[in-house]
Amino acid sequence: MARITASVYTSHVPAIGAALDLGKDKEPYWQPVFKGYEFSKQWMKDNKPDVIFLVYNDHATAFSLDMIPTFAIGTAPIFPIADEGWGPRPVPPVVGHPELAAHIAQSVIQQDFDLTIVNKMPVDHGLTVPLSLMCGQPPANDFHWPCPVIPFAVNVVQYPVPSGQRCFNLGQAIRRAVESYDQDLNVHIWGTGGMSHQLQGPRAGLINREWDNAWLDLLIADPAAAAATPHIDYVREAGSEGIELVMWLIARGAMSDVSRGAIKDIAGSANSVRVRHHFYHVPASNTAVGHLILENS
Ligand code: DHB
Ligand code: FE
Repeated sequence: MARITASVYTSHVPAIGAALDLGKDKEPYWQPVFKGYEFSKQWMKDNKPDVIFLVYNDHATAFSLDMIPTFAIGTAPIFPIADEGWGPRPVPPVVGHPELAAHIAQSVIQQDFDLTIVNKMPVDHGLTVPLSLMCGQPPANDFHWPCPVIPFAVNVVQYPVPSGQRCFNLGQAIRRAVESYDQDLNVHIWGTGGMSHQLQGPRAGLINREWDNAWLDLLIADPAAAAATPHIDYVREAGSEGIELVMWLIARGAMSDVSRGAIKDIAGSANSVRVRHHFYHVPASNTAVGHLILENS
């Protein structure tokens, strides 16, 4: 059967993609950011998945106010690159896994989550920046991403957005879906976006290190409590775009220590998760960068 072996969490700041694409990553401003991902790039090589289930948000690239799916699963064989702002990044298109995506859609919908099935979906910095941070920058035009990716887009842009609790429950359903797939596949689940940032209004530029770090600690040790964070707390404490963090709860809910919504095994026991990497840095554009790698034991 297929198994989720690890989860990865990272911010998706578009300026990080631009820094890589324009060769600015060695500049003093960006050095500390990329240093935080050196371990991660090696870890990706040492722990190469067969498939990445990548939870991210679309920034008015594939979707617009015309159509706002809360949860959209990409079932296509290939996803073209597109973006707002700096425009499409010069990175390869993303290869999908239509069979596993269709199986997850079937299983998760039968577990009472209404997913939108998307057979045509360009992907933006929300998905490509995490891939670049974890897999490195394309050295030449024959570069491919290391494995197929199932894009899973969550609406955290236009209200109403899903609650952290619903995202956490959805993660548990995704784990059951993966584990009922009859091929041996090593699957990583990634939660992306966040941490604190606000891009507009009088509080633009808001960063809250203390809140971010307390929430990271809670996500690791007591994800059910992190899932109970009300939507208004993200907005008040982590800024209007801090709400992107609910996507991390989908990945956390899919880890093996979570059962029926709570941690079922205490640290050190058979089902506990292992923190392989923990990184936090400010500044990076307008956003606090947070990054975790958790492994199932
Ligand atoms: C920034 C962060 C985002 O998450 C985003 O989607 C756009 C911009 C920023 O930090 O500038
Ligand atoms: Fe964003």
